[in-house]
Amino acid sequence: MGKTLVANWKMNPQSEREAIKLAKISDKENVVICAPFLFLLPIKKILKKAKLGAQDCSFESKGAFTGQISPTQLKKIGASYVILGHSERRIYLGETNETVAKKLRAALDAKLIPIVCVGETKSEHERSETEAVLSRQLGAIEEVLNAVPGNIFIAYEPIWSISTFKTDKIITPAEAQVAISFIKNRTSRFHERLQFLYGGSVTDKNLLNFIEPEFISGALVGSASISATIFSKMIRINHSNE
Ligand code: PGA
Repeated sequence: MGKTLVANWKMNPQSEREAIKLAKISDKENVVICAPFLFLLPIKKILKKAKLGAQDCSFESKGAFTGQISPTQLKKIGASYVILGHSERRIYLGETNETVAKKLRAALDAKLIPIVCVGETKSEHERSETEAVLSRQLGAIEEVLNAVPGNIFIAYEPIWSISTFKTDKIITPAEAQVAISFIKNRTSRFHERLQFLYGGSVTDKNLLNFIEPEFISGALVGSASISATIFSKMIRINHSNE
């Protein structure tokens, strides 16, 4: 089975026209396009092969929650995936492990496939606290995993390796594998429902190194996914590796 490339466009591009253009280029098997909310509907109309995802959702399915979008609404417009607990939301918007767990429950209830992001900061990494941080992040979602069925992706994204944080040095594929193995062991009770992704500065140059092990199901790609040239190359590399 092919590996999954999840494109996290973040707050890009700036117009619907550009979004459609990028979506057409990225519309291939085993690709999930996580676009800004306002482009989801127009993109859904043109997608033939790729799946659609959002970058966040509310922890409630409906009601008086100004500015929020519910997982049920996302499901109804044709989204299949939702990214939850991305580090930029944890850092800039104060999202906690508890909020992520509530969103996970709501997303699973709505039959979306959540992509839950976990990972440590640079200082936590330097203090060798990676496993402790991952344990806390995973521990917080355990109760939901016990209670609600549904498939889930866990994306290991060491924050110090995410390109937009202007990182000078990124994790090596070997180090990423150690962390993902830890996540896999820590969640082994749920192994039939879980798949694991790596995310953080993945490009056409390092994609295969990061996703090579059999237990890594693909990559969560930020900056490289908004470059039509680089992302097309990554899709080609991924397919020729099947
Ligand atoms: P990056 O972003 O590929 O630009 O490092 C990944 C992410 O933040 O999901």
